[in-house]
Amino acid sequence: MDRIVVRGGPRLEGVVHASGSKNATLALMAAALLAEGETRLANAPRVRDVDAMLELLRALGAQAEWLSDEPHTLRIDASRIVEPEAPYDLVRKMRASFMVLGPLLGRCGLARVSEPGGCAIGVRPIDQHLKGFAALGAKISLDHGTVEARVEKLVGGRVVFDMVSVNGTQNVMMAAALARGETLIENAAREPEVLELADALARMGVDLEGAGSDCIRVRGARRLRGIHHTVSGDRIETGTLLTAGIVTRGDVTVTGTDPTHLDAVLDKLREGGAELDVAADRVRARAGEPLRGVDVSTAPYPGFPTDMQAQLLAALCTADGSSVVTENVFENRFMHVPELQRMGADISLQGRAALVRGVPRLAGAPVMATDLRASACLLVAGLAAEGTTTVSRVYHIDRGYERIEEKLRSLGADIRRES
Ligand code: UD1
Repeated sequence: MDRIVVRGGPRLEGVVHASGSKNATLALMAAALLAEGETRLANAPRVRDVDAMLELLRALGAQAEWLSDEPHTLRIDASRIVEPEAPYDLVRKMRASFMVLGPLLGRCGLARVSEPGGCAIGVRPIDQHLKGFAALGAKISLDHGTVEARVEKLVGGRVVFDMVSVNGTQNVMMAAALARGETLIENAAREPEVLELADALARMGVDLEGAGSDCIRVRGARRLRGIHHTVSGDRIETGTLLTAGIVTRGDVTVTGTDPTHLDAVLDKLREGGAELDVAADRVRARAGEPLRGVDVSTAPYPGFPTDMQAQLLAALCTADGSSVVTENVFENRFMHVPELQRMGADISLQGRAALVRGVPRLAGAPVMATDLRASACLLVAGLAAEGTTTVSRVYHIDRGYERIEEKLRSLGADIRRES
């Protein structure tokens, strides 16, 4: 198993390019199942979750591969779906696999997908996805851990989500894309990845409006065509790299992401004292002083993203003053806290809130990544720490960050991967 070794201290400086958005790519790959023809996704990140989705699409009978001459372009042709069933072995690796259920139901009138179960950041139910499919006429059953959805023909309906779910919204949008008539999705997620999927669905032939608001209207089509699409930059990777620069009091510019997708994160970094220059496709962050403590609460978009909570928390460990970080989206997303405490962070947990009292310096230590963003947080902490931090279980980080250690090294970090 690989581990990443970081020696804290060097100030990060320079320009680095963000990869394409992992979460947008995963939804778009599922959407490619809706088309009877080829879809190409350019600027897709070469990360493990995308490879896992490729494996799943192939298991369903689609042709799905990286183009050999364009290393960040995916080609997916789901003209033929042989087996509308996503096996446990693939689903358990990645919850986002559940997003194939909507498209499969639309294409085949039948889908079987293993129940994804809990994960390191808490129980993540799928009840809202299922509620949506039922509103479109599907009969849902759970048999030996497998969710089966069946329908003669999906018919548009009204879906009111009890809570905002990103993949739930996307899954139901995709089912509705091949339903007869109109579907209204209320209390829909407003994340940029929902908007990007909506734009792609529209180009595939779906009549759709309202994406980006909390009410999306989808008028289904009989058949959909494949498209060529360029995936937008990863807003979470961008936020992570900027935060990494700031904890070293560096000067880092990240290109390739629309900064408006990061507003809530940039606002907090600014509030903490970082100096930001924002242009159309780049953000430069400088910090001459340690950050000041700030309070932050995660919330669905346009609120502060839960996927940036761990990395900001790591940066606040060496801030001047105290911070309260409240996690409102997932119920168990503080697994990184004990690891940060081992590095000398002063954090106390009270339910959904972490009270962080800034210390002058963290101390490098062997630590263990527990999930994707927690592992990014440990790298951020390692960059700010005195001495060497060894992050084990880095397969978590490889799920969602492409060559993170190379990108950080290009900015001057003392970081290497060991097998
Ligand atoms: C997506 C992102 C993930 C991000 C999350 C929140 C992808 C591949 N993943 O995950 O990186 O952290 O959005 O921004 O895009 N919930 C239910 N019932 C459901 C669905 C969700 O109770 O049917 C709850 C979850 O347990 C959680 C909350 O709703 O507490 C939000 O989860 P959701 O937005 O669905 O996350 P994902 O779409 O799975």
